[in-house]
Amino acid sequence: VETGLGSAHGKAILLGEHSVVYGAPAIVLPLLDLQATASLRRTRRGYITSDLYTGPLATAPKHMAPVLTALRVSAEQLDVRADRVDLILRSTIPFERGLGSSAATSAAVVRAMANLAGTRLSAAQLHGLIQEAEHVAHGTSSGLDAHAVQSMTPLRFQQGKPTTVKVADKFTFVIADTGTSGSTAAAVDGVKMLRDIQPRVVDRVVEDLANLTDDVVYALGIGDPIRVGQSMHEAHSLLAYLGVSSPALDALVAAALEAGAYGAKLTGSGLGGCVLAVVPDQEQAGDVAAAMTAVGATRTWTTSLIPNDFDL
Ligand code: MEV
Repeated sequence: VETGLGSAHGKAILLGEHSVVYGAPAIVLPLLDLQATASLRRTRRGYITSDLYTGPLATAPKHMAPVLTALRVSAEQLDVRADRVDLILRSTIPFERGLGSSAATSAAVVRAMANLAGTRLSAAQLHGLIQEAEHVAHGTSSGLDAHAVQSMTPLRFQQGKPTTVKVADKFTFVIADTGTSGSTAAAVDGVKMLRDIQPRVVDRVVEDLANLTDDVVYALGIGDPIRVGQSMHEAHSLLAYLGVSSPALDALVAAALEAGAYGAKLTGSGLGGCVLAVVPDQEQAGDVAAAMTAVGATRTWTTSLIPNDFDL
């Protein structure tokens, strides 16, 4: 093969961020309109072209370490010379907003490498390689993103194991970006520190988040967006209690509710990043997006889940 191509999409956590780190379940949604793509060619000199850095592989700055790791580990696995490839990366997933940009980029690179080598990787191999890059990007992580950016359906994820979530009706969501990035490592460390001081309280919050998550799994399965919204709303309060919200996130949540969303919460590790709101329909999505933009959202996206509970 002359050129190896790979892609993966973005994701949003519907419920269970942070609690998933302590063994509770989480639900992730695929964001199919947000895509990372990688194109790889063999050359004599390693070179990378991307929005974050363009230049020789050898002099790539530190923030490119996850991408370089994805390149290196997949090249090793597939017997390709990692220092002799020309990599072009394109992504419409915003960077460091909890929407899976690092995992999707790594997945795209690993898939492009497999394509270049003319090999098919097993799902487990693919996941393992993406996780190595994720480890460099975020430190220890639950592995949620590496699964989410490759799944076409929502996933329930617990203790490393993903399962497909049944969706009984169309659900419409709005995502709004605060325009600031929160550090996943800092947010996860913050919760861990709070848990060291108040283990019982934090474990209780984790348990409550676990119950809300499974309530949302149930509500998706019976097609009840109001119930999804109520659980999302409660989850946002619990996440704020854990210290991972911010004034900007709280303002977007309040604006979404005011404009008719059934519920809204921060999504991803928090401290910055995005808010996810569930809304009655496409028309209301426009109103909710406008309301969040009016209080400071720098960008908004609308995404829908389609029913998947038919028998094939
Ligand atoms: C970050 O995308 C989600 C967290 O739950 C961390 C993780 O799962 O590794 C905050």
